[in-house]
Amino acid sequence: MSLLTIEDLTVKFSSGGTTVTAVDGATLSVDGDEVVGLVGESGCGKSTLARTVVGLHSAANGQVVFDGQVVSSLRGSALRAYRRQVQYVFQDPLSSLSPRLSVGKAVAEALDIHRIGRPSSRPARVLELLELVGLSAAHADRMPSALSGGQRQRVAIARALAVEPRMLICDEPVSALDVSIRAQIINLFLDLQREFGLGLLFIGHDLGLVRRISDRVAVMYLGRVVERGTAHAVFDQPQHPYTRALLAATPSADPVVERRRDHVLLAGELPSPSNIPAGCRFHTRCPVALPTCATVEPVERPVDQEASDAVSCHLGDPAVPQELAVS
Ligand SMILES: Nc1ncnc2c1ncn2[C@@H]1O[C@H](COP(=O)(O)OP(=O)(O)O)[C@@H](O)[C@H]1O
Ligand SMILES: [Mg+2]
Repeated sequence: MSLLTIEDLTVKFSSGGTTVTAVDGATLSVDGDEVVGLVGESGCGKSTLARTVVGLHSAANGQVVFDGQVVSSLRGSALRAYRRQVQYVFQDPLSSLSPRLSVGKAVAEALDIHRIGRPSSRPARVLELLELVGLSAAHADRMPSALSGGQRQRVAIARALAVEPRMLICDEPVSALDVSIRAQIINLFLDLQREFGLGLLFIGHDLGLVRRISDRVAVMYLGRVVERGTAHAVFDQPQHPYTRALLAATPSADPVVERRRDHVLLAGELPSPSNIPAGCRFHTRCPVALPTCATVEPVERPVDQEASDAVSCHLGDPAVPQELAVS
């Protein structure tokens, strides 16, 4: 069983008479010792999914299961333990660090909140954590405003690690950083993931980066995971027309990804999540849609024998007539 399983998760936001279905039946899992990349256009619900996992939004339907327990049923100490075990790293470290706490105090606060270690041992532990993320005692008294973006993200990572989590959820953790230091922060994530055997759910929009660091990848479209599988399968043999279009539309610094990029462009705008198309939600933009696609919502089906590779698409489904394909 996976450490984290997101099953048929739906999250809605209502305001002024309209309802936005930001996540709409998403299914995804992350094992205890793997990196799973989550990709999809801006607005497709990645952050909402991640924030729901850590309890910042509640689910309208479906569930999050962590270590065999349904998260929404957790109370008291079990809920506190869960909140400790799954840590969220935001895109913008400034928004997750208090402007009034020095680096050392920010890290110590995480230990205090979760009552980790004896108060007398905390200064040494804070130093250890700072060193773990490539900072030093010299940074402990600095305020976040006196740090670079990369240093701030290191502090946010030290805070997350302070509570000895089993899983990190990183929401575009390098997008707000200078291009020149992104690789350092990514390498830090990967080193820590391996050193501590963490599960890592990595939300990213740089497909080359996601390909490089992920064991498995999930592709999200309008609130739903439409394809998931090993990074190799998803990037090298994408099954879903959306995955192909996304790969084609996104220039990549990764020469392998860039070479495979064809020139099918992703037509049109992302439909509004307050008005998700009937049938296959991608059919309005799909270059290879079948007549069925406008009316029947595809269910996820396995690709080949490998159980972890799955796609939600009628195309190539032996159960769906294919001959009416329009090109
Ligand atoms: N707190 C919120 N209230 C209302 N709508 C929201 C809220 N958060 C996200 N949304 C909407 O939900 C959809 C998905 O957003 P988000 O999860 O941020 O996507 P992504 O992270 O993939 O860019 C968007 O249409 C966004 O406007
Ligand atoms: Mg987001």
